[in-house]
Amino acid sequence: MSILILGGTSDIAGEIATLTCAGQDVVLAARRPEAVHGLVQQLKERGAAQVHVLHFDATALETHRTLITQAQEKSGEISLAVVAFGILGDQETAESDESHAIEIATVDYTAQISMLTVLAEKLRAQESGSAIVAFSSIAGWRARRANYVYGSTKAGLDAFCQGLADALHGTKVRLIIARPGFVIGSMTEGMSPAPMSVYPHDVAEAVVHAYHTKKSSTTLWIPGRLRVLAWIMRLVPRVIWRKMPR
Ligand SMILES: NC(=O)c1ccc[n+]([C@@H]2O[C@H](COP(=O)([O-])OP(=O)(O)OC[C@H]3O[C@@H](n4cnc5c(N)ncnc54)[C@H](OP(=O)(O)O)[C@@H]3O)[C@@H](O)[C@H]2O)c1
Repeated sequence: MSILILGGTSDIAGEIATLTCAGQDVVLAARRPEAVHGLVQQLKERGAAQVHVLHFDATALETHRTLITQAQEKSGEISLAVVAFGILGDQETAESDESHAIEIATVDYTAQISMLTVLAEKLRAQESGSAIVAFSSIAGWRARRANYVYGSTKAGLDAFCQGLADALHGTKVRLIIARPGFVIGSMTEGMSPAPMSVYPHDVAEAVVHAYHTKKSSTTLWIPGRLRVLAWIMRLVPRVIWRKMPR
């Protein structure tokens, strides 16, 4: 059994790999394979059996199926697949340059549903049970003027994932849908942390806890108390909401 990380340089996925790698084969699929040497070493020190690195560009949709086949050929059945690639993008640029808006939509929505569809089908065909992790976000809960392009992809992805989780109900595959708030890391570098911010390690711990304890698909607010703020967010009048910062 093995762990597959799609987005090998992701802060959050690196932490998940570190927490789950002991005794496992790990496949790191990364857009920049040369940037995962440090993580490979770290995973070996933490007891990973073998670590394989594959080149992966999420926007090359036609390669998704082959990539999963390659991962299975390298290290056998996949027990945990983490779909961690994503970009925040630049909202201001995306408002005037449709090619950037399309880039955000492609990486954060189209490529996600392509990969999740391939994973769901290929993991269902395995003999053993497995889990897929997908990353939604508080940004998709109620679109904000300040980051509505990214937020809209997360809203769409979250809806897709809720349906996929239902489709997987009763199968050997479960979907863990993570809905983090602001995560202090590479993606948010230079930005002021929002209320209830967490670190990549906190997100990883919540996901890995669900992986070890939940028997069926689940949706996780991270941190858990963000759920309350999320419901309050829905009640804020639009005249105030449109002035909310990112
Ligand atoms: N950070 C947050 O505040 C936050 C909050 C809620 C949800 N999330 C979501 O959580 C997930 C993981 O985020 P993170 O914080 O770990 O982000 P991160 O550290 O910035 O990692 C993002 C990863 O996506 C990869 N990537 C981007 N475009 C790609 C492409 N075309 N093909 C292949 N890989 C690509 C990056 O590769 P390179 O290193 O080569 O660029 C990197 O490995 C994302 O879906 C994100 O939207 C993040």
